[in-house]
Amino acid sequence: MGKSREERRQNVIEVLNKARSMELQAIHQYMNQHYSLDDMDYGELAANMKLIAIDEMRHAEMLAERVKELGGEPTSELAGKIVKGQSAEEIFEHAAGEEDDAVDAYNQFLLVCRENGDSTSMKIFEQMIDEEQEHFNYFDSINEHISNLGKTFLAQKAGTSADTGGVSKSFINKGNA
Ligand SMILES: [Fe+2]
Ligand SMILES: [Fe+2]
Repeated sequence: MGKSREERRQNVIEVLNKARSMELQAIHQYMNQHYSLDDMDYGELAANMKLIAIDEMRHAEMLAERVKELGGEPTSELAGKIVKGQSAEEIFEHAAGEEDDAVDAYNQFLLVCRENGDSTSMKIFEQMIDEEQEHFNYFDSINEHISNLGKTFLAQKAGTSADTGGVSKSFINKGNA
């Protein structure tokens, strides 16, 4: 027997809220890492981390809007604990892992939306997967530079500007995608 419309709606709300709790965690994690990078005076790296946190906030909002359209309640739970006090090396390895996990989870969630006949929610996941992939590529490239060049690479970033050029910008909207 097929699922009722109500069951299908609840299944979609569930994955939208799972994704939202991952986004809320990422926002807090990246803000913390942005402050750490700022304290270490890696301005450019801190600025990009801040812009990526803003992308995640936009994602959390997109998900909340869709949950509300479906008559659900947007979650305010964080998916996990925030890791603090990481070195620059640890920050980029960790962040790349988070993005890789998000791409994998969102592909699964997209399938749930398809199975439950919600093409609007599928499009939200499609867009987020593309953007998390951009974030992954950036974190992975920094990670690689640090692995290959270590202190030499980080020394080039010391004292660079942390300016993000205004509050409306984010990593994707800055033209990195
Ligand atoms: Fe995101
Ligand atoms: Fe991301």
